[in-house]
Amino acid sequence: MSDRILLAIETSCDDTGVAIIKNGNILANVISTQTVHEQYGGVVPELASRDHQRNIVPAVTQAFKLANIEKNQLSAVAYTRGPGLLGSLLVGASFAKALALGLQVPIIEVNHMEAHILAHFIDEPRPLFPFLCLTVSGGHTQIVLVKDFFEMEVVGATQDDAVGEAFDKAAKMLEIPYPGGPLLDKIALAGDHTKYSFPEVDMQGLNYSFSGIKTSFLYFLRDQKKINPDFITENLPDICASMQACLVEILLKKLRRAAKEFGIKEVAIAGGVSANSWLRLKLQEEAVKYRWNIYIPAFEYCTDNAAMIAIAAHYKFVHGKFGSQKASPLPRWSLE
Ligand code: KG4
Ligand code: ZN
Repeated sequence: MSDRILLAIETSCDDTGVAIIKNGNILANVISTQTVHEQYGGVVPELASRDHQRNIVPAVTQAFKLANIEKNQLSAVAYTRGPGLLGSLLVGASFAKALALGLQVPIIEVNHMEAHILAHFIDEPRPLFPFLCLTVSGGHTQIVLVKDFFEMEVVGATQDDAVGEAFDKAAKMLEIPYPGGPLLDKIALAGDHTKYSFPEVDMQGLNYSFSGIKTSFLYFLRDQKKINPDFITENLPDICASMQACLVEILLKKLRRAAKEFGIKEVAIAGGVSANSWLRLKLQEEAVKYRWNIYIPAFEYCTDNAAMIAIAAHYKFVHGKFGSQKASPLPRWSLE
């Protein structure tokens, strides 16, 4: 059998990712992170798409070089069809389609959230089906029952903000520069996570809500600053550690419930927030307590990357799931 070599493009938000995978092994994983958004304190969609346009050709060239692959060796071209920012998705989709057309190879459309989950199949150990995956990013917070590669059921989801958004908004209130989530995590390392607590709204079943805790955090800071205007600067690590612990406990409470309800002990986390050190630590403690087999992605596969698009595309190819030149990006694309 000839080698199956795929090029994968990820442009759903503000990272331009290009990966090359050969027979299921990642040969190159290039990521070009956009810094233009820092000065605005968040991703500016118009600027993101312009930067993808600038970055995509150099990133593809670099990936071919790193993998030591020529473009005529490709078996297919894959890209993120959604969910994500339309202008950003269009850049990756147009590039992938044009390349596939030029090379006369099939095209493969990948769901970004599905790819976050399938990132667990890049390296060993791999979860056994069925497993539960807590998928936590800047736009999503879901508990997914993963029955097979492309058979996923969302059994719980946020009804308002995503947890990544809660991290980023809390960081903004503390005047921590963008990107807030990872920096808050770093500052929290020196803090006491039991120092403060913030009331939250408990949702029914396996669903989440993060707007309540966001508001109580805002009021807490406002009240404390009335007493001591320097409250934030004097207590920053403790505030970060306490907020982080609250957010992680909200996540784990529902994950515990889901594991019990479905009688599943294979438990994974995925998405940008799975890079959070407190979540990773607490999940390890839960694993011991509940005898779970847990799966935590390597850091480079937590936040947005094209290796995860490549592995998802590899399995799509194996299952004969090819795309179409006529398909257009789907800014909202459910997993189910
Ligand atoms: O998956 P991702 O890279 O992009 C989306 O698909 O949204 O996730 C980005 C989110 C952001 O909200 C970012 O602040 C958060 O993941 N994040 C973190 C950490 N690293 C990334 N949140 C908390 N702690 C971290 N270490
Ligand atoms: Zn993502």
